[in-house]
Amino acid sequence: MTGSRSGRGPDRPLRRRAALAPLLLLALGACGDGGSDSPTSPGAPTPAPVPTTDPGPLRAAAEAAGKRVGAAVFSSALAGEAQYAATFAKHFDAVVAEYEMKWDPVELQSGAYDFTGADRIVGFAEEHGMKIKGHTLIWHGATPTWVGELSPPELRIAVEDHIRTVVGRYRGRVYSWDVVNEAIDDQSHGLRDTVFLRGLGPEYLALAFRLAHEADPEALLVYNDYGGEGLGDKSDAIYALVRGLLEDGVPIHGVGLQMHISASGYPRAADIAANVARLADLGLVVNISEMDVRIRGLTGDTGARLERQRDVYREVVGVCVAHPSCESVTFWGFTDAHSWIDSFFGPDDPLLFDDQYRAKPAFFGVEDAFLGR
Ligand code: XIL
Repeated sequence: MTGSRSGRGPDRPLRRRAALAPLLLLALGACGDGGSDSPTSPGAPTPAPVPTTDPGPLRAAAEAAGKRVGAAVFSSALAGEAQYAATFAKHFDAVVAEYEMKWDPVELQSGAYDFTGADRIVGFAEEHGMKIKGHTLIWHGATPTWVGELSPPELRIAVEDHIRTVVGRYRGRVYSWDVVNEAIDDQSHGLRDTVFLRGLGPEYLALAFRLAHEADPEALLVYNDYGGEGLGDKSDAIYALVRGLLEDGVPIHGVGLQMHISASGYPRAADIAANVARLADLGLVVNISEMDVRIRGLTGDTGARLERQRDVYREVVGVCVAHPSCESVTFWGFTDAHSWIDSFFGPDDPLLFDDQYRAKPAFFGVEDAFLGR
C-alpha cells in the first residue's frame, strides 16, 4: 500500500471470478453446508448445527455487541446487481463509499462538483436505515491532478471549498468523516510528502479538521490510516500525531484502523487491544475502518485457508467487541466478487461472502466475534 494507488472511476466494470466458485463451493461444503439430503438414521446422534449459506443478518449480531457493522460499496453495483444490493441491505447497518466520496469523483474538474455516485449511496443507506460514514476528505490518493498544480494560496482556497462543500452537503446525514487519510510516511514515520504538506505545511491537518467541524459540528471527525493497528513505530507515530492535534485543541474525535491484513502475518490481538486502549485514554473513539484478510500467502488447501481466515476475522473483530471505545467494524467490501485486493495485491478471496454471495467461514468468524462465541 504505497502512495501510488490510482483512483478507480465508478463506471469501471467490477470483476467477477466465477472460476473460483467451484473451489469455494467445495470449501463451504467442507465446513458443513451439507444441504438437507444427508440421511440421518433413527437413533443416530443429532448432528451439530451447521452454518447455512443464508445465515441470519450480521447486523443483528453486531447490534447484540453494541457495535455497528459496515461495508464499503460502489453505487454501480448497488444499482446493477440485485444480489449485491440484497446481501448488503440484509447484513449491514452502516455504509461507506469505497470510491465515490473521494476528491477525484466529486470534483474531477475544478468547481465542477458531481455528487451522482455519492448521492446514490447516501440514498440507499437512508432507505435501509444505515449509518453513513464519509471517506475521505484529504488523501494523497484519488486527488485530482488540478489540485497538484495549484499555488499554496490557491491550494488553501481549494481545500476550504472542497471540505465546506462536501461536508456541508451531507451535514446531519453523514455521521462520521475520515477527515485525513494516511498522512504518516511508511519509512520515516514523519508526515508523508504530499501535495498538502508541500503546499500548506504540517498545519494542513489541523486546518482540515477545523473546516470539517465548522461545516458539520455534530460529525465525528476521524484520522484514518493503515499499518498502525497494533503496536510499533507507525502506530506510535499515529498516536503522537493525534495526541498533538488534541493538545492543540483541534476537533478530532477518533482514529480509524484500516486493518487491510494478511492471514499469514498480522498484528497480535493483544497489541491491537493495547493500541485501542491508549487511543481511548486520549478520549478518542476507535473504529476498524477497512478490514479485509488476504489468504493467498497461506499454504494448505482452500478449505484450510478459509478456516484460517475465519479465525483471523474472529480474533481481530473480537478486539473491537471487547473494547467499549471501538464503535464499529467496517469491511472494505463484502463479496470476493468485488474487492480492491485483486488488483492491488493479486488474486485473493479476502472478504465475508464468496463470488456467488454465499457466506464464507469468514462470515461466521465475524458473527462469532460479535456474539462472544
Ligand atoms: C481504494 C479503493 O478500494 C479502490 O477502489 C480505489 O481505486 C483506490 O482506493 N486505503 C483507503 C482506501 O483508505 O480509500 C483505499 O481504497 C484502500 C486503502
